[in-house]
Amino acid sequence: MKLLIVNGPNLNLTGSREPSIYGKNSLAEINSDLMQEFVGINFEFFQTNSEGSLIDKIQAVDREGFDGVILNAGALSHYSYSLRDAVAAVAKPVVEVHLSQVFAREEFRRKSVISEVCKATVTGFGKFSYFAAVYALAKYLKK
Ligand code: DQA
Repeated sequence: MKLLIVNGPNLNLTGSREPSIYGKNSLAEINSDLMQEFVGINFEFFQTNSEGSLIDKIQAVDREGFDGVILNAGALSHYSYSLRDAVAAVAKPVVEVHLSQVFAREEFRRKSVISEVCKATVTGFGKFSYFAAVYALAKYLKK
């Protein structure tokens, strides 16, 4: 099984930016923990601060043979209709994740424009949001 883990703007700063909200682990540490936890899964990790590059990668999901996607689009989740349209065009399931509990934060974070076109959303477990999403998506794909 081949899964793509995509992180959008500012998630490269995970571990150092607002650690009380986003945790103390870097993205590289989270990615390496995922590989250790899910040894049977073939992961590709992609992070970009650019909306266009994020959309280009999402457009490539089916072509590049991924079975599914875990997507933390950062703030783009709340307002990017271009990203939403790109996600809607993917045949394979896309799971939205957030490190923080977005529903317990500022008003603008309580709305995600991508949720409706995602298979599921996991939010608020810190780095374990990714673990929960990978676990459930892998089970779902094997069903
Ligand atoms: C985030 C939540 C977003 O509101 C924020 O803009 C981020 C990170 C999260 O993982 O909690 O950059 O997606």
